Parts: sequence; structure tokens; C-alpha cells
Amino acid sequence: MKTRENIILLDEVDSTNSYLKERAGQFPDGTAVIARRQTCGRGRTGKSFVSADGGLYLSYLLNTGNLTVKDTISVTSKAAVAVSDAIFKATGIRTQIKWVNDIILNSRKICGILVDPGKFENGIIPYVIIGIGININQNNFPAEIGNIASSFRLEVGREYDVGTIAEAIIKELDNLSCNIHNDQDYIKRYRDNCCTIGREILFEREGEKISAVAIGITDDYGLIVKYDDEIIDVLKAGEVSVRGIAGYV
Ligand code: BTN
Repeated sequence: MKTRENIILLDEVDSTNSYLKERAGQFPDGTAVIARRQTCGRGRTGKSFVSADGGLYLSYLLNTGNLTVKDTISVTSKAAVAVSDAIFKATGIRTQIKWVNDIILNSRKICGILVDPGKFENGIIPYVIIGIGININQNNFPAEIGNIASSFRLEVGREYDVGTIAEAIIKELDNLSCNIHNDQDYIKRYRDNCCTIGREILFEREGEKISAVAIGITDDYGLIVKYDDEIIDVLKAGEVSVRGIAGYV
């Protein structure tokens, strides 16, 4: 069990991930940075992450000794399991995971996760920064993400205590840090919670739009898909992003 003195609370920051990344060497394993708002929140694939008041913007320094590059890919998915479980423990709300690591409520994205790897040394990544943005009490979103994003407040109709959710997330990330190599447990929980399985999905590869049915998750968190001609394929995290055939999920 880690001591929980190492939580840094900020009113405003450009990005909690950038803040922690710039200072990673100064802080102990398990340090968490939480901001009320971010002015330059970062999402996956170079996108920005809208980070207004009312949400939780949290980054966690996970230093498990020596992670291989392959391990860091699974950390992202394991973090999604940790976040989904923490949300349930703190609020009673059951969310789902859209492959790879969006957290979904009522078919809307309520949380995104961005894992920034630390400096790569001889095939080993000494630490990662797990960045989590959860939409909790926001009342509205910019028009361009209005049909994808939502918040607990909009979906459930009440406010939630951001601090309670933050505490539950840090606890689950502490558990993840201690159990980072417990692949069996996390993959089972991921599969049980993944709403992409069984759905018709769309993705883009080399400029071509492709449809398939998602039929499972491999042990290293690839998405197993079946095409119309019955051919089976595996989509790798980071290579493609998928959408539902009729909406985001
Ligand atoms: C995504 O869905 O594209 C990932 C979004 C990750 C957002 C979080 S908010 C806390 C941390 N700081 C950032 O700048 N990004 C992550």
C-alpha cells in the first residue's frame, strides 16, 4: 500500500500529463496530479481534450520497474478496467469500455485515457503517465463533440463529488501498480466490460473505410473482427480507431 501524501492539486494547468511528464524524475511512484481545469488538455492521436470545470483531470505516475514496450500497450487497457471499476465503486454507475480505452455511459463517451510513456531506454520504458479525463458535472459540450461526449450529470441527472471519484481512481491505480503483471485478471475484467464485442464496427485503413463485426479480444488487447467474407482479422491498438456502424459506440 502506498502513502497518499503524493497528490498534487492544481486549479488550472495546461495538461496534467505534461505537468507530470516534465517533473517525473522529481516525484515518487504513484504520484497523482489533479486539476480543476486544463487549458491544453491532450487526447490521443494529437487531438485536444476539452477540459472545463466540472470534470476530473488526473494523471498518475506509474513506475513498475521495467516495462517493455508491449507491456505499455496493455497498461492503457488495464487502466480502462481500473477506471471503470473505480467509477462503479464511487458512484454505483456501471460504465463500459469501448475498444481500446474510452469509457462509455449510455453510448456516450464520458472518459478518455491517454498513456504517455517515459523515456525509452534499451527496449525498456521505466515509467508511464496515465492521464484520465472524466466528464462529471459539466452541463454542456462544444458542438463538435456534442453527439459523442456526455457527463454523469447529463446522463444521470445529478451532480457527483469529483473528489470521491478521484480517490476511488487513485486507489484502483495503486492496485494496478501492484498487480501490473496480473494479466489474467485484467483481461477477464476487460472482456466482461467491453461493449465493442458483438457490434458491427467501422474503421479506416490506408484511406479505405472497412466494416466488420467485433467478435472478441486477444490476450494482448487486440480486437478480433470478422469481415463479410468470414475472414478473421485482429486490429491492434494504436493502428486504427473504430466506430459503431450507427454511432460512436
Ligand atoms: C482521449 O480520449 O483522447 C484521451 C483523453 C485523455 C485526457 C486526460 S485529462 C488528464 C490528462 N491530461 C491530459 O492532457 N490528457 C489526459
